Amino acid sequence: MLIRAALVEQAGGPFVVRDVEMASPAAGEILVRIEAAGICHTDLALRGRWPAARLPMVFGHEGAGAVEAVGDGVPAVVVGDRVCLSFRSCGECGECRGGRPAYCLRSLVNTQGVSGVLRSGAGPVFSGFFGQSSFATHAMAYVSNTVTIPADFPAVLAAPLGCGVQTGAGTILNVLDPAPGDRVIIFGAGGVGLSALLAALTRSCEVIVVEPQPARRDLALSLGAADAVAPGAELPSAHHAVDTTGRPDVITQAVGALRRRGTLALVGMGGTTSFDIMTVMAGGLNIRGVIEGDAVPADFLPHLIELQRAGRFPVEKLITTYPFADIEQAAQDTLTGKTVKPVLTFD
Ligand SMILES: NC(=O)c1ccc[n+]([C@@H]2O[C@H](COP(=O)([O-])OP(=O)(O)OC[C@H]3O[C@@H](n4cnc5c(N)ncnc54)[C@H](O)[C@@H]3O)[C@@H](O)[C@H]2O)c1
Ligand SMILES: [Zn+2]
Ligand SMILES: [Zn+2]
Repeated sequence: MLIRAALVEQAGGPFVVRDVEMASPAAGEILVRIEAAGICHTDLALRGRWPAARLPMVFGHEGAGAVEAVGDGVPAVVVGDRVCLSFRSCGECGECRGGRPAYCLRSLVNTQGVSGVLRSGAGPVFSGFFGQSSFATHAMAYVSNTVTIPADFPAVLAAPLGCGVQTGAGTILNVLDPAPGDRVIIFGAGGVGLSALLAALTRSCEVIVVEPQPARRDLALSLGAADAVAPGAELPSAHHAVDTTGRPDVITQAVGALRRRGTLALVGMGGTTSFDIMTVMAGGLNIRGVIEGDAVPADFLPHLIELQRAGRFPVEKLITTYPFADIEQAAQDTLTGKTVKPVLTFD
């Protein structure tokens, strides 16, 4: 069938919305009509360095919508179910069987791109980003990354839960697991950092946010941060820290800000950094990489939905909606920092 998809046709190039042909779902596949799709920083980072051999590519890994068709062997969902899409995992490796799908040994499938699902007049179009490629009117998903949500839960709120919100919130709730009153420092007030803030507030933590953009600091304060400071400000010692910047200088500072036996969660994508071994050793510090908030999406996304509905996790305050046709504008507004969590809407 014919769908509309936002193609990246050259590395670093803009999103261009075009008609493409989509195959019917094969065994194990779930065809989802997308109602809303969040943009995560990872979409924009990877479009900038995507290999030419796998272009054009459809990104998008925070989709939500309704099941339109299912392939064979998919007992979990039926046509019409409303779903939130998350990351894909194999379900068979040791990590998946141990309940840690974020560390699936086949997780590369999320960021490689596959051919065979989409095709344009000019040839194959690559898709399968995080088992979805949801910058399109329709996405092909899988059992492992399709989570059924309540029929009346708005797609605009569900979409960003699938990656950025899950990552920030899961880092707090599943990994750091702070006690009430613990101090948490969050570096970077984008979609991931502010989701971590909202989650830490559900645990009655004292949260300090470090962020260069004044508007994002103001937003953090209005959401309930105890303080929001510019980079370079002196920081009090903290039980927990979350880095969403991936910047070496920030990570060095974050290590220095931890109390005895404190933990720094590394969430932002980055290169190489260094820190003082004696500080880490003598402090009994933990430095812990985190993918997708250690979440099992089928369990964690319904939990976030419950928190949102109880008024304890106001993710709506991070969201700005854009019509799908304006996807490139939404991307630019994210890159300049104007928008924290852009969510595309589809008619
Ligand atoms: N580990 C995972 O599973 C996972 C999942 C989703 C996203 N990510 C990554 O997390 C990162 C954050 O994602 P996002 O969508 O929130 O991105 P974002 O760009 O919206 O947020 C990053 C924030 O860091 C701020 N920043 C820049 N320099 C800083 C400094 N010196 N000190 C403090 N803050 C600084 C930026 O102004 C920005 O607000 C990205 O690298 C993304 O790729 C990782
Ligand atoms: Zn696996
Ligand atoms: Zn993401």
